[in-house]
Amino acid sequence: MSNVKLTIVYYSATGTNHTLAKWAEETAKAEGAEVRLVKAGELAPDAAIASNPAWQAHHNETKDVVKEATSEDLEWADAIIFSTATRFGGMASQMKQFLDMQGGLWAKGALVNKVVSAMSSAQNDHGGQEASILSLYTSLMHWGAIVVPPGYSDPVLFTTGGNPYGTSVTVDAEGNMSPDVKPAVEVQVKRTLDIAGRIVGN
Ligand SMILES: Cc1cc2nc3c(=O)[nH]c(=O)nc-3n(C[C@H](O)[C@H](O)[C@H](O)COP(=O)(O)O)c2cc1C
Repeated sequence: MSNVKLTIVYYSATGTNHTLAKWAEETAKAEGAEVRLVKAGELAPDAAIASNPAWQAHHNETKDVVKEATSEDLEWADAIIFSTATRFGGMASQMKQFLDMQGGLWAKGALVNKVVSAMSSAQNDHGGQEASILSLYTSLMHWGAIVVPPGYSDPVLFTTGGNPYGTSVTVDAEGNMSPDVKPAVEVQVKRTLDIAGRIVGN
């Protein structure tokens, strides 16, 4: 059993990354980890959200249910898993804004040796899922965080899209995800907790 403290930070407009994050939470809790599930704060104006019924619906569903991520959620954690929607081949600006607000933690070295891993989604099979994860990892390397990619550390990763950087999924306009990446999320979470446990000496 893990006694790692894990924060899961996601940004999701229409629910996909929320689902990935919930699967990560479920897996981590089953492993015994202490878990916080938080979202990057919304930056889009109300009119933009309202222009997309799926975005508005997800926004309403999570508004008072999921807490917005804070620096304290990062400082508290031994390990952090990020999950972001893809925007033009990179992480969503809401997630980038959250990262960019961590200068204070960075300056005092509080993000050094955080064990991190990332997941993403996009609408097209080759629409930038890998690039989104890599854009996250670039910032996290500046923190001195320890990036834990799944690689091909488990056979299940060959049947769940085969992205060695992190779990990623393709989602259509109706919200259907393919392939079924839940097993990949489970592997990624367990591996992140395993490495974090070794770092914090549990
Ligand atoms: C402004 C914008 C840019 C996007 N850029 C891409 C892209 O570069 N590649 C792609 O495949 N999908 C792109 N998408 C689709 C989103 O990645 C997709 O809706 C998202 O992964 C769904 O995740 P969510 O349900 O968690 O919001 C874009 C969507 C928006 C609104």
